[in-house]
Amino acid sequence: HRTAAVIPAAGRGLRLGPGAPKALRALSGTPMLVHAVRAMARSRAVSLVVVVAPPDGADEVRLLLEEHAAPAGAAADIVVVPGGETRQDSVRLGLAALPDGFDSVLVHDAARPLVPVETVDAVAAAVRAGAPAVVPALPVADTVKEVEIRGAGEPEPVTGTPERSRLRAVQTPQGFEVKVLAAAHAQVLREGDGATDDAGMVERLGIEVVVVPGHDEAFKVTRPLDLVLAEAVLARRRT
Ligand code: C5P
Repeated sequence: HRTAAVIPAAGRGLRLGPGAPKALRALSGTPMLVHAVRAMARSRAVSLVVVVAPPDGADEVRLLLEEHAAPAGAAADIVVVPGGETRQDSVRLGLAALPDGFDSVLVHDAARPLVPVETVDAVAAAVRAGAPAVVPALPVADTVKEVEIRGAGEPEPVTGTPERSRLRAVQTPQGFEVKVLAAAHAQVLREGDGATDDAGMVERLGIEVVVVPGHDEAFKVTRPLDLVLAEAVLARRRT
């Protein structure tokens, strides 16, 4: 069984504030993408990492990854391909770059640079054990409301409160049989309706997706405060 990882890293990351594409911004001096690539390459299950770079930044990303050594003991090959307009496009382009012979694929956001290898291994193992689609997820701390969307600044009427104990906040890497994820992306492309994660597309095919435990350190770096948390996690790992 062969497992590859696809890392979409082509987003601009506007919510983080102005500057370089999010994946190229530094965390404790090392670009977020480098942390994310190392996190995948550290898993002994992963033998190839496909990095999906900003459309005009593939060469820059190639140089960056050559410059930063892979982690000790990692045996994964790394290839870089240009991404697309949306995350979904970028993942599809990454999948298209997979050589024949890979049975499963982990899709991991560059924006989750600190995911522990145990989480990567657990997702890969669940797919290898026969689950067609696996997502790491955590219970949610906040109560979540559904609202009617109104104009900016207008109060939004609440339309429902899903029972919190049944909710999970989903992380990456999400793991799939390659043929299942490729079929899901092909269907979404034909029908033109997006989804905010890869597992959501697989659900629409009527294929079961299962959840394994996620990890606090697999949080997504989205807003400036997340950078503070990420650097604190890295500092704690170093001591
Ligand atoms: O914007 P968001 O945080 O949801 O992005 C999740 C991941 O998808 C990031 O790693 C980002 O770089 C990637 N992405 C991409 N291509 C896009 C948009 C986002 O690869 N066009």
